Amino acid sequence: MLTNAKWIATSEAFGSVAPIFQTTLTFPKAIRQATLSLTSVGVYVATINGVRVGEYVLAPGWTMYQKRLQVQTYDVTSMLEETATLAVTVAKGLNMSHLAWYDHHPYHPSDYALIGELRVTYTDGSEESFVTDESWFCRRSALLDCEIYDGELYDAGITDTPLLPVKVIDKTKDILIEQEGEEIREMMTLTPKAILTTPKGETVLDFGQNLTGYIAFSVNAKKGDRVKIRHFEILDRDGNVYTENYRSAKATLTYICRDGVQSYKPTHTFYGFRYIVIDEYPGTPDPDDFCAIVVHSNIKKIGSVTTSDPMLNRLIENIEWGQRDNFLDIPTDCPQRDERLGWTGDAEVFCRTATYQFDVEKFFDKWLGDMRAEQWEDGGIPHVVPMIIGDKHCSAAWSDAATICPWQIYLSYGNSALLEKQFDMMRRWIGYIALHSKDQYLWTGCIHYGDWCALDLGKETTDSATNKDFLASCYYCNSVRLVAKAAKALGKPYEEYETLADKIRDAINARFTEYRTQTEHILALYFDITPNKAEVAASLAKLVIDNGIHLNTGFVGTPYLLHALSQNGYTELAYSLLLQDTYPSWLFSVKQGATTIWEHWDGIKEDGSVWSAGMNSYNHYAYGAVGDWIYGVAAGIQTVEEAPGFAKVAIAPHPDRRLSHLTASIETRHGKVTSHWERFENGWRYEIETPVEATVTVGGKTKTVPKGHYLFYSEY
Ligand code: BGC
Repeated sequence: MLTNAKWIATSEAFGSVAPIFQTTLTFPKAIRQATLSLTSVGVYVATINGVRVGEYVLAPGWTMYQKRLQVQTYDVTSMLEETATLAVTVAKGLNMSHLAWYDHHPYHPSDYALIGELRVTYTDGSEESFVTDESWFCRRSALLDCEIYDGELYDAGITDTPLLPVKVIDKTKDILIEQEGEEIREMMTLTPKAILTTPKGETVLDFGQNLTGYIAFSVNAKKGDRVKIRHFEILDRDGNVYTENYRSAKATLTYICRDGVQSYKPTHTFYGFRYIVIDEYPGTPDPDDFCAIVVHSNIKKIGSVTTSDPMLNRLIENIEWGQRDNFLDIPTDCPQRDERLGWTGDAEVFCRTATYQFDVEKFFDKWLGDMRAEQWEDGGIPHVVPMIIGDKHCSAAWSDAATICPWQIYLSYGNSALLEKQFDMMRRWIGYIALHSKDQYLWTGCIHYGDWCALDLGKETTDSATNKDFLASCYYCNSVRLVAKAAKALGKPYEEYETLADKIRDAINARFTEYRTQTEHILALYFDITPNKAEVAASLAKLVIDNGIHLNTGFVGTPYLLHALSQNGYTELAYSLLLQDTYPSWLFSVKQGATTIWEHWDGIKEDGSVWSAGMNSYNHYAYGAVGDWIYGVAAGIQTVEEAPGFAKVAIAPHPDRRLSHLTASIETRHGKVTSHWERFENGWRYEIETPVEATVTVGGKTKTVPKGHYLFYSEY
């Protein structure tokens, strides 16, 4: 790829200033077709004669540049005139930003590099190619500093900086790959809902929604005037700006004005925020001059659910926003603080919900490619992908994303080629566990995050009381079962994996005979470990009831809690948890005004105080995993293993009398599936639309129906 192009870099160090690489080309003949292929070490924005090329925000996307770097190809036919100045501004992006809490830099700003080729076909059929090489120039841009955590410093007064030569650098092209993921795009614009003056006198704009993106503004100013904006998620209990939970991330935009009316929006960074505080501004800010631009991977919304309960509807919206705000080429844990990393555990727990809400096949295909590239020789899967933070350990539930995500993407979209690509990674991952566990057929003795952020230790900690060896062994069993299923689906030998999974289950039952925490019960049930389901489910129900009908689970137990209950005869209790609005619960955050999903059940407590600033995100999609229960159990729309991708569908709605109606639909590869139920006389009326053969279970009776539109009734 890009065989004739050369890697180019600046010929002198630019410090924090983003370089522009540029060349001016003249075309001797009329052009029929032109394509520009480009990539950089850093994030780039290209322009031709001052007009932006393409719509990709934060190109070339996020991969571990040492291993794979996506190349974008744009059709630029209509952008070329007789003469064209091609200019590419490159800034730090994820790979070069300061990782505050690890202080680990795989690249430094001095590593900025660009490679590209413009291929032109003239109207007479002849072709010409222009590549990056020593004939290009570089110069300092007006982007004086820019990185993803701290934001941008831009001086609009800087225009013509001197052209300097570039240097050609010796850098491998083996890392170059075609664009694999969805492009990150500007997807939506929001206007301010309110302008506030806080008790401390700060001028704040509230966009009414926690989002990922950046501000665009216009201002009438004099050269040298400054606009300084900081981004934040919540007001503190006194109504003042609260930024401590961003930790070291400054999340600031500083713009130094030129003369006159001018507009600006950041180009090489992003912020996670609901509010902005305007620290400096020439004159009085007018909210009409500001808007927020939402950016995320260009994933298509395919699912929707609405119910008779406005709080539940807001929760569903929050789950959707959690996905929008964190699907940014990689699934980030959060978009605001000095982290924003591809934590595998977060993606693993949310994966199924993600597939219901948006079409994420291509998104996961690319990220699983990143994961394959990161797999260690012994089969280990890092807890962050791309593994930018440099440490080297695996964690149960996090690294198990290697089996859980590929299998889920296969179930949801039915693409066996995608599963085939991941199979070796899946197989090698379970091999890693066997290699590192202290005990055969268990996963014991390693370091794990456990039921991260659970509440069962009764204090503000991210740790939990759930036995980590038990948790890890359950995940081991589940991962082996998924490898067996994948092998079977792909026509490979699978029996040895099934046998291994049975041995693991038996070893777990022999070693761990008592379940104490909610999460231990949940894992024993959901992962089909315990032979005593009725007893364990009753004990889980008791724990929940004794806790005042409250969960106390963390990242690992929460996604499966409602399933563990509803699969074992406790659907009504599962609904009670879903509809619970006192702490800790999903609707508690809604009651507290959340517009996304929080990292902690008590992100903002009853009295308005907040969880410790060191670890408190208000845009952490993981607990949004409950969306899968809403689609899959409340509405009852499920994939069928033997006919993945909704080639057949199972529909088993579970109404609850606290809701008068619920409607869910999913645009599948085979058409739209809809499941609706509403109260009707002394029972329920169901309306089901299926584009394929469906197995419908209503009121305890199962029926297989061809594609069509059906009404069913059941009694309370
Ligand atoms: C992240 C989590 C992640 C965890 C792993 C945190 O810093 O924000 O979402 O899964 O670390 O322990």
